[in-house]
Amino acid sequence: MKLILVLYLSSLLGTSIAYDCAYCQPEQVHIAFGEKTNDIVVTWSTFNDTKETRVQYGKNVMDTEARGYSTLFVDGGPRKHSQYIHRVTLRDLEYDTEYVYHAGSVYGWSEQFNFKTPPAGEDWVVRAAIYGDMGNKNAHSLSYLQDEAQRHKFDLILHVGDFAYDMDTDDAAVGDQFMRQIQPLAAAVPYMTCVGNHEEKYNFSNYKNRFSMPGPQQSMFYSFDIGPIHFVSISTEYYYFINYGIHMLMNQYDWLVDDLTKATQRENREKRPWIIIYGHRPMYCANDEAECRNQRIPVRTGVPFIGFVVAAWAAGVEVRCRLRRTTHLYASAAARPRTMIY
Ligand SMILES: [Fe+2]
Repeated sequence: MKLILVLYLSSLLGTSIAYDCAYCQPEQVHIAFGEKTNDIVVTWSTFNDTKETRVQYGKNVMDTEARGYSTLFVDGGPRKHSQYIHRVTLRDLEYDTEYVYHAGSVYGWSEQFNFKTPPAGEDWVVRAAIYGDMGNKNAHSLSYLQDEAQRHKFDLILHVGDFAYDMDTDDAAVGDQFMRQIQPLAAAVPYMTCVGNHEEKYNFSNYKNRFSMPGPQQSMFYSFDIGPIHFVSISTEYYYFINYGIHMLMNQYDWLVDDLTKATQRENREKRPWIIIYGHRPMYCANDEAECRNQRIPVRTGVPFIGFVVAAWAAGVEVRCRLRRTTHLYASAAARPRTMIY
């Protein structure tokens, strides 16, 4: 009789019997562009399995819902800190339009955020905040970025490697805190990334799991078009951590040749004359560090023949760099041009 009563209550109350999800409040919410800039991927974390992954969104009210999936991420540290990373793609949004959204499940929703999709077409000026090397501590730019992102001063953000210092530190507690502190900007503006040397631990697993860049390469390399720009993100770290295998470096090289070949086809170049490639380490630099005096920087010359420049040449792209401390650099030397080098 008792068993029948329990079964009856179970069916009557449905999911409430299993309503035991102590760490299911969404946190670390951030967004990125999907395969095109009117697809927005929402990513967040919960510490228990919510069994469902949902985003409710709309132009003024949240009257539409999209569902996604979650993956279990286990950090490589001794505590094997684990969390569920949720991903939902909001597809075919209207361009140049503000949306409100929240993320979660039956166990709890995030606060409401908003973002604005970029304009359609190529004939407009892209506003990007571009930086690298931002940690949890001493993040002088953070409050300004949070404030301006929420005022929609940027169409996108590019964080070009080195996050948190480091995301794996303290059994990934530092990574969790970093993702919380960027939420005020990264939940409001697409937060596009590339990997840096500080993400190396456990084969870049914190980076690969926490971010959701376009394409199938776990955010390590990808490209996307926005306005008159073709942005390309590469991993310069493949050249320095070949202990993880050279195959990904080869894959990236082949992909990059192919990507640049397409981007430089006449019809594409006419539409998007700007091709901007970002990676964490510069190919050229002009200060007095040993790295800059080394004429055979692996990211430029390859290991030994798979360097980035080789890929760019193969694709017919003239490589010019304006990297690091705003010095004009070209062909292994600091340039002092009378005219602007882009
Ligand atoms: Fe670095």
